[in-house]
Amino acid sequence: MQLRALLSHHFPDIPPARLPGGFDRVGDIAVVGIVPEVAPWQAAIGNLLLAEHPHLKVVAKRAGEVGGELRTLPLEVIAGEERLRTVHRENGVVLHLDLGLVYYSVRSAQERMRIARLVRPGERVGVLCSGVGPFPLVMARHSRAAEVIGIEKNPVAHGFALENLRANRRLRGVRFMKGDAAEVLPTLAPGFDRLLIVLPHGGEPLLPAALAALRPGGTLHFYDMQAKDCHSATLAKVEAAAQTLGLRVTPQQVISCGHCGPTVHRVCMDAVIGPTP
Ligand SMILES: C[S@@+](CC[C@H](N)C(=O)[O-])C[C@H]1O[C@@H](n2cnc3c(N)ncnc32)[C@H](O)[C@@H]1O
Repeated sequence: MQLRALLSHHFPDIPPARLPGGFDRVGDIAVVGIVPEVAPWQAAIGNLLLAEHPHLKVVAKRAGEVGGELRTLPLEVIAGEERLRTVHRENGVVLHLDLGLVYYSVRSAQERMRIARLVRPGERVGVLCSGVGPFPLVMARHSRAAEVIGIEKNPVAHGFALENLRANRRLRGVRFMKGDAAEVLPTLAPGFDRLLIVLPHGGEPLLPAALAALRPGGTLHFYDMQAKDCHSATLAKVEAAAQTLGLRVTPQQVISCGHCGPTVHRVCMDAVIGPTP
């Protein structure tokens, strides 16, 4: 039964539109949104979810927005076991993570697969802001990249990325490094075929290092938040950084891959970076 229909049946006095209409499942954890006036019933709602979905062991509610430098989501357990650590499977890879300590969104799974399918055999790829490692691991699983390097600042997320590398031990050519990508990337040999900046709120400071590390004709995937169809704002950010390095940006496409509120979209600009003619 649809979640809202189930909850409406049990809570007939609450207007259906105020009840959660769905949830994100991360491993055995359900993440739901509960509006403040429904909070007195949140434990009952959580327990109903657990009863309806036996594979779930924890129900947590969003207790704020994704925020801070490490992009973590405030969560509060409202039913089940008191933990936010779990094991999730996505696109054929196993991911250990703690939703209270690291960023991870199931909603980007399709986008990760899109990028993996773009990777050509033998490519050297860098993922700036790699979190617990889903982009590098999904790429390694579904492409024949020669090397994929993930760089992550949150030491806890980096620790999970190393654990996930061990958990997916059949995958070859993946390496994770801890630190600020703007500082770590310049210590690596340049000439990357493809670089991702997966920091949609505030990834611009990483652009100079990323553009400098790409080979001529290499591909940049730059994630950004923008008002619907306002691609020019995203392009302007990449072009401003490219100009200072004497590089030319040739946009390939802008993919909408989620949203943050009704008018703000999470987008990825795919662009080829080359020398100015
Ligand atoms: C939006 S999350 C994406 C994580 C991961 N790529 C994923 O898809 O699950 C952004 C990540 O960037 C990390 N981060 C923020 N600033 C960074 C920086 N300067 N260098 C490296 N990582 C950074 C955060 O800790 C967070 O894990």
